[in-house]
Order: sequence, then structure tokens, then C-alpha cells
Amino acid sequence: MWKGIIREYPDFFRFSDDKNVITIHEGNTPLVQAPRLAQKINPKISIFLKYEGLNPTGSFKDRGMTMAVSRAVESGSKAIICASTGNTSASAAAYAARAGIKAFVVIPEGKIALGKLAQAMIHGATVIKVLGNFDDALNIVKQISQEYPITLVNSLNPHRIEGQKSGAFEICDSLVGGPPDYHSLPVGNAGNITAYWAGYKAYFDYGKIKSLPKMIGFQAEGASPIVQGRIFEKPETIATAIRIGNPASWKKAEQARDDSGGLIDSVSDDEILEAYKMVSSLEGIFCEPASAASIAGLVKKSAQGLFNGGERVVCTLTGHGLKDPDNAIKVSREPVTCEPETKKVLNVLGF
Ligand code: F0G
Repeated sequence: MWKGIIREYPDFFRFSDDKNVITIHEGNTPLVQAPRLAQKINPKISIFLKYEGLNPTGSFKDRGMTMAVSRAVESGSKAIICASTGNTSASAAAYAARAGIKAFVVIPEGKIALGKLAQAMIHGATVIKVLGNFDDALNIVKQISQEYPITLVNSLNPHRIEGQKSGAFEICDSLVGGPPDYHSLPVGNAGNITAYWAGYKAYFDYGKIKSLPKMIGFQAEGASPIVQGRIFEKPETIATAIRIGNPASWKKAEQARDDSGGLIDSVSDDEILEAYKMVSSLEGIFCEPASAASIAGLVKKSAQGLFNGGERVVCTLTGHGLKDPDNAIKVSREPVTCEPETKKVLNVLGF
């Protein structure tokens, strides 16, 4: 039985006392080949989807949260705090519940997908909505965690990045023929692209792999500070998970990009929604809009001639589509209502 990333990768995540390990058996998510998507985007490349929506709270955040909360418990902390566009707060709330400690989460009012808010609430976190954006919330929680005995579990906490490296380990362990040529990710606060690159490098140094992928990251156009080289005071995008104007790991993401020979570009909301529909309708895999930025980026870069043919590309689908039912309904065909009669239903079916 899979026991969670800390216990599955003991060479990388060391705990002197196993009782401090707080886990909901995160990780071990499927790496699914996507031939129909590749056929549509570029038949000459192979696309694999790392479906992080299948983590315990439905996003990749659980990989970092198991580490951050376990270390918090190890150090005797009784409370954690984070700012979040939704997924970090859902994960923090769940792992705090599991640990029996308090969670305080600060989110931007009105810009959180419904499922994520429900998660933070049901797990018993104290949820504070600020009348501002994620960047405002992050500044507040940073200050509080410096002055009070509350552990910050945003990705400024290095244990978060440590745990998130495990996504790269799993890909290397399961992809036949070694690591991919390219790894595509959405970029928000820029922790995940930093973590994946660190994970690939750690596996390389450990002698587990013999090559490294190029990291390619995609921000939403209306929240693309790294691409534009300036802070966005008022970031806006349909992909609320990555609605961030001043990413905490900005410099580290640029380093991952440059060290790997990759790139960070932006995609429009229309391109994100198109990719969102494409992956769900062609592959049966439901992710949230922000996750689809990784696929929208492939569409854009493929059209610009990035690939020669034969490349293997992994896209991380960072969060489950069920977190954001509102956007799914908005972009889909309406159900048809009809009388409870077979004939009427057949009529709708076109028979
Ligand atoms: N995809 C999803 C679904 C996310 O929730 C996030 C970040 C990202 C991508 C971007 O990852 O920040 O490491 O570059 N969500 C954070 C949160 C900000 O608060 O849940 P990143």
C-alpha cells in the first residue's frame, strides 16, 4: 500500500520520529498518456498528463503540505497560517485537521472557486476573506507568522518546495525511457515550477536519471508578472488559482527556466478555456482552468514551432476540475429538460 510521499521517499524526506509524519497518503498520482490530445495539438509529440487532481484534497498542494505540516508538528507548532487562491487553503485545512492543530487561512474575497472554499470550511479552518487579492493576503500572513507563534505554510516555507519535489520523482519512476524532454506547468506563486526543477535535479544528482527536462511555465496573460517583468497590481484571470501579481518564488522560477533552458510565457483566458475543454472532452480528464494553462501553453508553443518531433512532454494538471463547477458549467452545453417520456427523450437524441 502506498504510504504517502514522506514514507515512500525516505532518502529524500527524513524524519527522526515517524509519529510526527502527518499524511493522507498523498502522491502516487497517475501519469496518463494523452494520444487524442497530442493528435489535436501536434501528432509528432507524445503528451503525458500528471493528474494531480487525484491527491487527497484534489491538488498538488498536498505534496508540500504533508512536509510543511509534519515539520510544524515536529517543531511543536500548534497552528498554521497561509494566504491562498484556494488550493493551499484546502490542503492546509485538511492536514491541520489530521494533525489536530489549528489552521488560519486568508483568501481573496469573491475570487475562490466554490469547491476550494467548501474544503477549507468543512475541515474546520478559520477562513478570513480579505477585500483584496492574493498578494495582499500573503503580505498579511507573512507579517503575522513573523510576530506570532503560527507556522507559515505558503511556499516561502522551504518544506513545501521539498515535498513538491516528489512530483518529479514519481514521473521519473514511472515514465519508461527516463525523464521527459519538456515539463509544462501553470505558474502562479511560482513554487511548483521551482519544486519540480529542484526534484529533477535532486534525482539527477542521486544518479536516478541521466538527463533533465526543459521547464516550460505559463502564466495567465492578465497575471503575467514574470513574462512582463513587472508586478501586476491588479491581476485578473478566469484561472483564479493563478491570479497572482507578485509571485513569492519569482526569482527561483526564472532560475529554473534559465538553468533548464526552458521558457515562461503567457496564455490568454480564451486559450486557457479552450485547453480546459479540450482535455476534458478528448481525454476524459477533468482539471481546473489554471491547470489547463499547461496545455494552452503547449498549443501556443507548438504553433510557434518549438517542437521538432519525437519529444516527450509532461503537463502537470495541478488541480481537479470538480473544485470549480461554476466554470465547467459556464463553458459547457446546457442540459436539455424534457417530459418523462421515452419518445420525448428519443426526440432530443435525434432519433
Ligand atoms: N494550479 C493550481 C490549481 C494552483 O492552485 C496553483 C497555485 C498553481 C497552479 C500555481 O502553482 O503557485 O506553485 O506557481 N495555487 C496557490 C494557492 C497560489 O493558494 O492555492 P504555483
